[in-house]
Amino acid sequence: MVKVTVLGAAGGIGQPLSLLLKLNPKVDELSLFDVVNVPGVGADLSHISTDAKTDSFLPSSKEDKTALGNALKGSNLVVIPAGVPRKPGMTRDDLFNINASIVRDLSQGIAENAPDAFVLVISNPVNSTVPIVAETLKKNGVFNPKKLFGVTTLDIVRANTFLAQLFPSEAKPTDFNVRVVGGHSGETIVPLYSVGESKKFYEKLSAEKKKELIHRVQFGGDEVVQAKNGAGSATLSMAYAGYKLAEAIITAQSSSSVVECTFLNLDSSIKGAAEAKKLVKDLEYFSLPVKIGANGIEEVKYDILNEATEEKQLLDVAIDQLTKNIEKGVAFIKK
Ligand code: NAD
Ligand code: LMR
Repeated sequence: MVKVTVLGAAGGIGQPLSLLLKLNPKVDELSLFDVVNVPGVGADLSHISTDAKTDSFLPSSKEDKTALGNALKGSNLVVIPAGVPRKPGMTRDDLFNINASIVRDLSQGIAENAPDAFVLVISNPVNSTVPIVAETLKKNGVFNPKKLFGVTTLDIVRANTFLAQLFPSEAKPTDFNVRVVGGHSGETIVPLYSVGESKKFYEKLSAEKKKELIHRVQFGGDEVVQAKNGAGSATLSMAYAGYKLAEAIITAQSSSSVVECTFLNLDSSIKGAAEAKKLVKDLEYFSLPVKIGANGIEEVKYDILNEATEEKQLLDVAIDQLTKNIEKGVAFIKK
């Protein structure tokens, strides 16, 4: 039995993400939680003739914790796209004040009701909200670093698409699986174009074009925020990306292991995490390719950091910025 819960299911990301999950034949139960509008979303999705049984949960008041508990009980996988999105002129860090407490309270619910679940964090700023989830789970004595994933998949999706757009007659986005490491905001996003399938195309670009491409991936979120002009940030591409990671984890439950990039806690219990940590100046969190099996993250593929010599400077900048973002999230729970 696979039960997936979406926290923030009535939102711009939550709705299309829930639709994609409803279409997955491996999902037996789809549980939708939000503080507004979720009964309507649930009723709508429940008419789709796929097997996933769909339920929605709306708290009756701010104090009501039962709805969240009921939504979460028995979940194998929880996805969190709850929280406010950016408007033009804002950074992801500007969302911290509102989203930090939303994510903390939802994590407390996970600790109490679904402590063994895989947790996928979409809410921004990811570089800080992932440490918030980890610290909340630690406080409750239920933290498993192998099951916590900061969702950076949209950066990979963009990196593949934007490179293919530069070679319209030679390449398609699906030809690539660019490893994007670091974090999920501006210069903490580091696409490693110089390694893997992307290398032979990337090498054809001038230094200026390479710079423009990297900048586009790092600030791809801004393109959408500006185009939506006050009506939010990426939702459809994010739902696709979030689903892609969720599907990979669900697949790893029943068949072979998969490799995906994610922003993870570099805990020494994970194979390769200690080696990775040394390469990123002892940061506790970093996005890297990881091997995922039935019980979660089995191995961190840190070698890519040694291979990517061309991106050394970009990595140094990312590491410096991430230090502050991570500390901010940890301090929010520890204070
Ligand atoms: P949205 O405003 O459309 O939806 C957010 C939903 O969260 C709303 O339905 C709201 O009611 C709900 N919500 C608020 N507080 C809640 C709570 N305490 N419990 C449950 N639900 C709650 O926003 P969106 O466009 O869906 O974006 C959601 C978040 O995802 C934002 O923080 C955004 O920055 C982030 N995001 C991350 C990525 C990424 O790559 N990781 C990409 C895009 C957006
Ligand atoms: C994105 O990368 O699209 C998201 O993080 C949303 C944003 O604020 O840009």
